[in-house]
Formats: sequence, structure tokens, C-alpha cells
Amino acid sequence: MKTRFAPALFTRSQSHVVACLTSLVLFCVLFCVLFCGACSVAGSAAPTPAGAELFQLCAQCHGPEAGGNRPVNAPSIAGLPQWYLEAQLKKFKSGGRGMHFDDLSGMQMRPMAMSLANDKEISAIAEYVSKLAPTKPATQLTDGDATRGQALFVTCSACHGADAAGMEAMKAPPLNHASDWYLFASLGKFKAGVRGTNPADTSGALMRPMALTLPNEQAMKDVIAYIMTLKK
Ligand code: HEC
Ligand code: HEC
Repeated sequence: MKTRFAPALFTRSQSHVVACLTSLVLFCVLFCVLFCGACSVAGSAAPTPAGAELFQLCAQCHGPEAGGNRPVNAPSIAGLPQWYLEAQLKKFKSGGRGMHFDDLSGMQMRPMAMSLANDKEISAIAEYVSKLAPTKPATQLTDGDATRGQALFVTCSACHGADAAGMEAMKAPPLNHASDWYLFASLGKFKAGVRGTNPADTSGALMRPMALTLPNEQAMKDVIAYIMTLKK
């Protein structure tokens, strides 16, 4: 009985297995075709936009050559090193900068960084902006004393370099192509604790105590007047 029953069962289950395998193979083929199709459609619909394309948004505030625009508080960013641009864009995006309620201009910039979808877009725009020719913004603050500023700048040069061209190892950006009004505003923010106090802002935390060594607005203007003489 057993021997007659067993082959019959074996045959039925065997055909069942074959049917299962066939539909599994068909399903896999169909899945691969659909999935790969979807992939290539998604891939061609959303490649990382070119830096020039992403820059169209930035130009609205930072200007067509990224030379800055004082009425909207947007600094010159042309030719800043890629590492600094990436770090700042990531910091704005993640909320390490531009989150303080008294940081109005930082809060204007933050949503712009948030519009960059991912690290690839951040790299693309940072690379593009880093390759733009650095501008030479005109002096707008008039009452700084560059000679007194030179003495104050000795401290700053330890991180920003004697020529204020920046030092990646210290995470310190170049200052030699920045507008004086932006340098003044930034030093003011560091001093007031509006920038460089967020726990997520480790590089800002390096800078804040340095801003506090400048005792008053006149000292800020003096050191900035000296930095403006370093423009190439
Ligand atoms: C709505 C105006 C606006 C737009 C659009 C805008 N920004 Fe800004 N951006 C600002 C302002 C204002 C600041 C100054 C923030 C501050 O003072 O801390 C700033 C600051 C920055 C900084 C910091 C510069 C520094 O020296 O630390 C970078 C980098 C930057 N923007 C890059 C970009 C990029 C890239 C885009 C395009 C994706 C862009 N911005 C679009 C207004 C804008
Ligand atoms: C210990 C190293 C160090 C010293 C010394 C130092 N800085 Fe900085 N500075 C930094 C770092 C790091 C940053 C970048 C902060 C960030 O990531 O937001 C910075 C940023 C700045 C910024 C903002 C630049 C921008 O594009 O937003 C200004 C302005 C500045 N420093 C001026 C000065 C001046 C003036 C002095 C001297 C009084 C000075 N720094 C001394 C490390 C230093």
C-alpha cells in the first residue's frame, strides 16, 4: 500500500514543485524587468543636477557671479574652497548654523541649503562655486584702523593664515575675499553667541572664543580694515 501510494504522492508534489518553480522564475523575470525599468526611469528622471543648474537659485541672493549682495545680507562666496562650502551647506542643512532666533540672515540661508536634496547636490554646487573667480568687494566700512588691526590679526593668523587665505587643517576659511560688512556681521554674531554656540557646530566653537578676544566694535573694525589690505 505504502509503495503504491508513495509514488502517486511524489508525482503530485513533484508537479506542484515544478509549477511553483516555474511561477517563481516567471515572477523573478517579471520583477527584474519591472524593477530595472523603474530604476532606469528613476535614474534618468533624477540625475544630480549640474552645479550651474543648482546655482540659479543661489544667484538670486548671492549675485550672478556669487560676489555677494549687501541689501539681502548675502556674502560673497565665489572661490571659497570646496571643503568650506560643503561644510557650511551641510551645517545650515542640519541646523548647526542658521537656527538661532537672533540669526536673521542665517535663517534666510538655511532653507536654501535644505533645498539641496543630498550630499551629491551639495558637492556639485560647492565644486561649481569654488571654481568661480573670487571677487574683490569694495571697502564699505570706513572707520577701521588697519595699523592697529595688524597687531590684532596676529592671533587670527594662527588659523586663518598670515595672508588670511584660510587653512583647511584648522577648518578656518579664507577671509581675504570677503566683504567688510559680512566680516563685521559675522564677528558680531560669534561675539553675541548667535553663531558658534550650537552644540552641532564644532568648527564654529573654535572661532567663537577668538571673536571674544576683540574687546569692542572698534577692534572688530580695525582687524577688518587690516584684512581688507590682504586682498590680492
Ligand atoms: C534667499 C537668499 C539666499 C539664497 C537664495 C541663497 N543664499 Fe546663501 N546666504 C544667504 C545669506 C543671507 C547668507 C548669510 C548668512 C550669515 O550671515 O550667516 C548666506 C550664506 C551662505 C554661505 C556661508 C558663507 C560663509 O562665508 O560662511 C554659503 C556657503 C552659501 N550661502 C551658499 C549658498 C548656496 C550654495 C546657495 C544656492 C543653493 C545659496 N547660498 C542660496 C542668502 C541666500
Ligand atoms: C583657533 C582657530 C581660529 C582663530 C585663532 C581665529 N579663527 Fe576665525 N574661524 C575659525 C574657524 C574654524 C572658522 C569657521 C567657523 C565655521 O565653521 O562656521 C572661522 C570663521 C571666521 C569668520 C567667519 C567667516 C565666514 O566666511 O563666515 C570670521 C569673520 C573670522 N573667523 C574672523 C577671525 C578673526 C578676525 C580672528 C582673529 C581675531 C580669527 N577669526 C581667529 C578659526 C579661527
